[in-house]
Amino acid sequence: MLTIAVSKGRIYQEALPLLAQAGIVPVADPDSRRLLLPTSHPQVRLLIVRAADVPTYVEYGAADLGIAGKDVLVELGAEGLYEPLDLKIARCRLMTAGPVGASWDTRRLRVATKYVNTAKRYFAERGIQAEVIKLYGSMELAPLVGLAECIVDLVDTGNTLRANGLEPRDLILEVSSRLVVNKAAMKIKHRPIKALISDLARAVHIKGEA
Ligand code: ATP
Ligand code: PRP
Repeated sequence: MLTIAVSKGRIYQEALPLLAQAGIVPVADPDSRRLLLPTSHPQVRLLIVRAADVPTYVEYGAADLGIAGKDVLVELGAEGLYEPLDLKIARCRLMTAGPVGASWDTRRLRVATKYVNTAKRYFAERGIQAEVIKLYGSMELAPLVGLAECIVDLVDTGNTLRANGLEPRDLILEVSSRLVVNKAAMKIKHRPIKALISDLARAVHIKGEA
């Protein structure tokens, strides 16, 4: 049996066609509130977990494989995992952003973000002393109410920033979802995992050609 951890929402929706090409079709929707989904493939089941929890399930071997955003993998420093495939889904950019036209005092910069480790590293590498404030969502609000001068958040269309009078500044990371694999599972279940990786790689390639 192979267990794949995936988050519901965007990643799940975008992964579905790729999984289908590998012969894996869930028998129920995550909106059914079921968190353990059998699939059309008798040897494969899906675990529906929070996006930031995917690497944890895989690292501890509760799932053999997972699908996680590069943003999450970098933030958690998920080094105990193999990352054999870029699925090229849920693509966006991790960026700094702030109020349109505002200049930042980089001597005492306050940054609000969900990506505390990544933000700290980013500013430290540039010699900027940033006070990084952890938020769990609605980061765009922080500069509007004086909690922080800037934010570090995901940007796709830029609509969320625009709607809040913010603009993107510097690119920190190009993000897409990656297939991750538990190291022990890769040894013990080598054959089915290798087969799944190559099926998914083919599906990614076909999608890229279309
Ligand atoms: P959860 O609700 O599971 O705790 P979440 O709210 O972060 O997590 P999503 O918004 O679906 O869940 O984001 C999951 C992943 O999708 C992110 O980690 C990122 O890799 C990618 N992602 C997030 N927002 C976008 C976006 N606007 N466009 C493209 N990809 C995105
Ligand atoms: C994500 C992310 C940003 C937004 C960026 O949020 O945290 O807030 O998407 O996307 P944009 O540049 O296209 O506006 P979330 O998944 O909560 O928002 P969404 O479902 O509305 O994209």
